[in-house]
Amino acid sequence: MPEPELMDDPLQARAYAEADFSCGDEALIQRLQEYLISLCKIPSPGSMIVDLGCGPGNICERLQRLWPEVMVLGIDGAQAMLDHALQRQKAMAAELKRLTYRCSNLSSLVNQCVDLKCSAALVVSNSLLHHLHDPNLLWQVTKYLAAPGAFVFHRDLRRPLSTKHAIALQQKHMQEAPSILIRDYLASLHAAFTLEEVQSQLVHAGLDHLHVIEVEDRYLDVFGTI
Ligand SMILES: C[S@@+](CC[C@H](N)C(=O)[O-])C[C@H]1O[C@@H](n2cnc3c(N)ncnc32)[C@H](O)[C@@H]1O
Repeated sequence: MPEPELMDDPLQARAYAEADFSCGDEALIQRLQEYLISLCKIPSPGSMIVDLGCGPGNICERLQRLWPEVMVLGIDGAQAMLDHALQRQKAMAAELKRLTYRCSNLSSLVNQCVDLKCSAALVVSNSLLHHLHDPNLLWQVTKYLAAPGAFVFHRDLRRPLSTKHAIALQQKHMQEAPSILIRDYLASLHAAFTLEEVQSQLVHAGLDHLHVIEVEDRYLDVFGTI
């Protein structure tokens, strides 16, 4: 059940930007680091990380703090989200010197961002895939951006078995949130893909060497070397 792709309603962007997703974000970074260390693929100084559907920059900021010498590029199609990202960056300018943002829809990125072709040592996204009405877009853009040997890591929600399960997840993980966030969370769970669906997307995209695993009670991780 698709939800709108871009989160460009200012109220929606603001509710998202003000929410505290720090536990989940920290866990994601931890997991990513473990993979990179085990494969000796820590990004080298001067190399580039691209965070697709970066929203208000929560993951970009953590990546930049972790690797201050690496360039981090956050891409999102919603200017309302990037406005929050830029505002936050301004407040922490000294620690986020190599972080930049670009407003671009994934659907036009391949034509409009020729400079980014094969440029990224690491391509990541969090909570993006379920927004895409054509999920193949994420896999095509990933292939376009990844330098040879790049590591990719995409984390998203996975679709629960039923609306009842979705509500149980919302009550467990997002009980006390503003109503706009609860609405979006439930919509996201209904829009998300299953492990089998993502596996078949990867076969279709010629990326079936990537791993897809279920993580905790609500996530899917897709990762591997291009
Ligand atoms: C749920 S938010 C995730 C934000 C952030 N990655 C995080 O970890 O919290 C999804 C973001 O993807 C963006 N997005 C959705 N579809 C997109 C598309 N086709 N092109 C670019 N950005 C897109 C939305 O605007 C939104 O900011």
